[in-house]
Amino acid sequence: MDRRIGFIGAGRIVEVMLKAIGPTLGFANIVVWNRTRARADKLAAEFGIKVADNLAELAEGCDWLLLAVKPHAVAEVLQALAPHVHEDRVLVSMAAGVRTDKIKGYFPKPPRILRIMPNLPMSVGIGMTAVCADAAVSPALLEEVRSLFAVAGRASLVEERLFDTVTALSGSGPAFAFLFIESLADGAVLNGMGRELAYEFAAQTVLGAARIILDSDKHPGELKDIVASPAGTTMAGIHSLERNAFRSIVMDAVDAAAKRSRELAH
Ligand SMILES: NC(=O)c1ccc[n+]([C@@H]2O[C@H](COP(=O)([O-])OP(=O)(O)OC[C@H]3O[C@@H](n4cnc5c(N)ncnc54)[C@H](OP(=O)(O)O)[C@@H]3O)[C@@H](O)[C@H]2O)c1
Repeated sequence: MDRRIGFIGAGRIVEVMLKAIGPTLGFANIVVWNRTRARADKLAAEFGIKVADNLAELAEGCDWLLLAVKPHAVAEVLQALAPHVHEDRVLVSMAAGVRTDKIKGYFPKPPRILRIMPNLPMSVGIGMTAVCADAAVSPALLEEVRSLFAVAGRASLVEERLFDTVTALSGSGPAFAFLFIESLADGAVLNGMGRELAYEFAAQTVLGAARIILDSDKHPGELKDIVASPAGTTMAGIHSLERNAFRSIVMDAVDAAAKRSRELAH
């Protein structure tokens, strides 16, 4: 790929993205602008990318613009950016909760607008990214953006009405999984295992279980039945989880995160 890519923002997700898809994009093709220049300079030193002095310079020199500022900053940034963006450019926003029609509204002549929701495991090549686009975007461009993010794990097209759900599931989900892994390990520590070994066993177990679900066409319940033999240890553990409403607790967590995402969007 030899198109010029401009990142707007230099926060944690941009750093993750530079590691994950920077080699595919080509670091020599990447420019970053950030309100606080020092953060952009730090990324430039780490990855060998360029820094733009202002949004006009970034917009005029780049074919694709990746918007990665906090949602509350989007309005201010787009107002400053809009006069400099040509309509043949591509704008990919990863700002949580900011809809494509709202983004479009800032431009007298809108570029091609897409939205993505990446997640932290992109940093280790096992990301899950949701992609959607404004109706004016061609299927070919949509596929080009999807396949770019698939380099860092998986990427799927998801209707924009489901983006708050995606934010809760794959965006917040890693934090829920960290909690689960920590709890599994705590249970092992309670039973005498050293903490380091407990984290290794817990994390590898969750990774393995996830791999089986992705690779097989079996329902998670069927897979649970394979592990849980009659009157066995697993069934005793499952009984305890069910008694404590484990499934409801997890469903409530996803539901609460999705509600919060909808709240933040207004
Ligand atoms: N982290 C994730 O896993 C993740 C996943 C999916 C989507 N996202 C989205 O990615 C975006 C950035 O998140 P992050 O995790 O990278 O956050 P972060 O590390 O806190 O970085 C925030 C970025 O927003 C900029 N910013 C904040 N207020 C601004 C303003 N008033 N004007 C201009 N720039 C401003 C910051 O610039 P300064 O350096 O000048 O403060 C910085 O570049 C958010 O919209 C978030 O919803 C993040």
